[in-house]
Amino acid sequence: MTRSVLINRIGELVTNAQGAPGAEPGGFASINDAALVIEGDRIAWTGPSSRAPAADDVVDAAGRAVLPGFVDSHAHLVFAGERSAEFAARMAGRGYAAGGIRSTVAATRAATDAELRAGLRRLAAEMVAQGTTTFECKSGYGLTVEDEARSVALAAEATDEVTYLGAHVVPTEFEDDAGAYVDLVCGPMLDACAPHARWVDVFCERGAFGVDEARAVLTAGQARGLIPRIHASQLGPGQGVLLAVELGAASADHCTFLTGADVDALAAAAPSSASTGTVATLLPGAEFGTRQPYPDARRLLEAGAAVALATDCNPGSSYTSSMPFCIALAVRDMHMTTSEAVWAATAGGALALRRTDVGYLAPGAKADLVMLDAPSHTYLAYRPGVPLVRAVWQSGTRRP
Ligand code: NIG
Ligand code: FE
Repeated sequence: MTRSVLINRIGELVTNAQGAPGAEPGGFASINDAALVIEGDRIAWTGPSSRAPAADDVVDAAGRAVLPGFVDSHAHLVFAGERSAEFAARMAGRGYAAGGIRSTVAATRAATDAELRAGLRRLAAEMVAQGTTTFECKSGYGLTVEDEARSVALAAEATDEVTYLGAHVVPTEFEDDAGAYVDLVCGPMLDACAPHARWVDVFCERGAFGVDEARAVLTAGQARGLIPRIHASQLGPGQGVLLAVELGAASADHCTFLTGADVDALAAAAPSSASTGTVATLLPGAEFGTRQPYPDARRLLEAGAAVALATDCNPGSSYTSSMPFCIALAVRDMHMTTSEAVWAATAGGALALRRTDVGYLAPGAKADLVMLDAPSHTYLAYRPGVPLVRAVWQSGTRRP
C-alpha cells in the first residue's frame, strides 16, 4: 500500500497548471499558502493550505516555496576527461571553436564503460541535488559505431530521454572525407544507436556540419523513428533553426545568433500541444563558459516563441549541471522575468522533450518536485550561487 504524503504550509507553490497538456506556452502559475498531496508517483491534489485533505504522512514546508522539478532538456553527460585548460585559455582571451570537442572524443574512446558510467552517475547525482528531476542525455563524444552505441546505451541506463548525436563533429580520421562520415552517421552508426535513443541531434555550425549534412542526418533519424532536435546558431548565424522548423524538430537549441526569419519561424512553430512544434532552447551556461553574447530571449518571447532553458552540461562549453545557475543567468543577463525563467526551466523543458507528465504540478502529473530553502521562486536568481534546494521528490520518492 502506498502512503499518501501531504506537503502543507507551502509559501508559494509553482504549479504551471496552465502549462498542462494542450495549454498555451508562457503559463507560469502559482498559489500562495498552498498544499499538495502525493500518492504513489503522482500528484493527487493541489490547493490552498486551508483546504488540505488528510494524508498518511505530513511534511511541514513552513512557508517555503515548492516548484516542479527542473527539466533539463539538453545535456552531454557521457564523456571522459575535462578541459579546464581550454576554459582558462578562453578566459584569457582565446575564442571557442567546435574543434575542442575532439579532445573529449579522444579521452572518451580511451575510457572503459565503468569509467564513463561513473562520470555519468556523478553528474546525474549533481543534477538531482540541484533540483533536476528529468534530464536529456546525448551521445556525441564517441564518434565510432562502437563508441556511439555504448554512449547511448549508457545514457539509457540513466534517463529515458536519450539523444543520438553521432553528428557532433567530424572526427579526425574522417577529416578529409566528411561525406563518408555523414554516411556512417546515417547508416551503420544510426542502426546501432536507434534502438537506445528517442531523439536525433546534429551540431549545425561552421566547423561542424552544414545544413545539407544536418538535413541528411535528421531525416535518416526520422526514418528510424527518432525525433529531431538541433544545435543551431551557437557561434554565428546559420540555417539550422529554419531546418529545425522545416523538419518539425522538437527544439532548436542555443539560438544565440538569430535572424529575423529565425525568430518569425520559431514564433510560428511555437507548440500548440505537447506533440508538435519547435521550442527555442536557450543555454546560457554556454555563453557564460565561452564568453559570448547571450541569446535575445526577450525578442523570442515577445514574438511568441516558446522558450526553454537548459544547462548544456558538457566539459567544453558549459560545465555546469545547475539549472538554478542557468535561471539566474537568464534573469540577470537575458532579461527574462523570474517567472518566465522558472517556467522555461520546468514547463518549457517539458515541451522541448514533448512530455506531458512533468514540468507542472496538478493532479495526474508526475510527483517530481523541489522544495527551496526560500519563500519564493525569485530567490533562485536573487540569491545566485547559494544551494537553495532543500528537498527533492522524484516519482513521489524523496531523494537523498
Ligand atoms: O552544445 N555545440 C556543440 N556541443 C556542445 C559543446 C561540446 C564541447 O565543447 O565539448 C555545446 O555547446
Ligand atoms: Fe550541446
